[in-house]
Amino acid sequence: MRQSRMKTLVVTIFTLGAIILMTAATSDNNYSIKSNSVSAESFETSLTKPLLTAKLKKSSLKLNWTKAENANEYKIYRSKKKNGKYKKLAEVTADTLTFSDKDYKGERKTYFYKVKAISKSGESTEHIYSNTIKKTVYKRKSKVHGVTYIDGILIANKTYKLPKAYNPGTNRKAYKAFQKMQSAAYKDGINLFIASGFRSYSYQKSLYNNYKARDGKEKADTYSARAGYSEHQTGLAFDINNPSSTFDNTKEAKWLAKNCTKYGFIIRYQKSKEKITGYKYESWHIRYLGKSLAKKVTKSGKCLEEFLGITSKYK
Ligand code: DAL
Ligand code: ZN
Repeated sequence: MRQSRMKTLVVTIFTLGAIILMTAATSDNNYSIKSNSVSAESFETSLTKPLLTAKLKKSSLKLNWTKAENANEYKIYRSKKKNGKYKKLAEVTADTLTFSDKDYKGERKTYFYKVKAISKSGESTEHIYSNTIKKTVYKRKSKVHGVTYIDGILIANKTYKLPKAYNPGTNRKAYKAFQKMQSAAYKDGINLFIASGFRSYSYQKSLYNNYKARDGKEKADTYSARAGYSEHQTGLAFDINNPSSTFDNTKEAKWLAKNCTKYGFIIRYQKSKEKITGYKYESWHIRYLGKSLAKKVTKSGKCLEEFLGITSKYK
């Protein structure tokens, strides 16, 4: 009990010559431990978070960390498992707060990095504070069975086509997220349902051809995807309630726009982004990205193409 609580505490270290006092304030207790009565390992503790951040650059993974009080040097480690064996990559001086790992391998692989702040006082005492970060490495652009991923995100638009045989059906995670959102909406007196979800290549083909016959190719291209280019073929996109501009400004559309991000969706084709997404505003079309990414994209105010730095244009 005390041990586990200790770990989560903010630990302040005072260096007084050779005497190190560690005090940890709890709601009901105060501890005072002399360093020479405990081994260095027992000083291992978490520093204020986030100590570490990691960013994928063109040919390296760049780590940054915040300065740790009293640190004399930092040691950088990497492991494939959180509790696995950590390999030491480097030792750097106290004024270095960055390290580039050029040696990570592969794609869709997750690495754990640990940076230890080492404070040396006297000859033998080494105090260590460490923090770990998890980073999954994606290639900027990759193709898996003909499907394009940008930074690990599946993309289907006018530039990136899906294979004819790509027929994944409704994505389970996306559907579960929709159900959660639907329940929450219902509690607010809002009725949401999926009017159109997964669409196969051949279904999209007949849909598009009908629109083309009715409105002509140029107009059809502003609101309907050609076969192989529709996000509906990924199973990650849903049209909610009524795929028509009469859905705009309804209380359901407003609820959706305000709340879908919380459940991992974005409104995919925004009003002001028609030139970039390649499609007219669709207040009803949502795309599942997962909560954390959906939040980032929404917060950025960018459409998915801008966020990823890609285009949406037919060749
Ligand atoms: N209405 C969207 C753009 C589609 O057809 O996929
Ligand atoms: Zn749609």
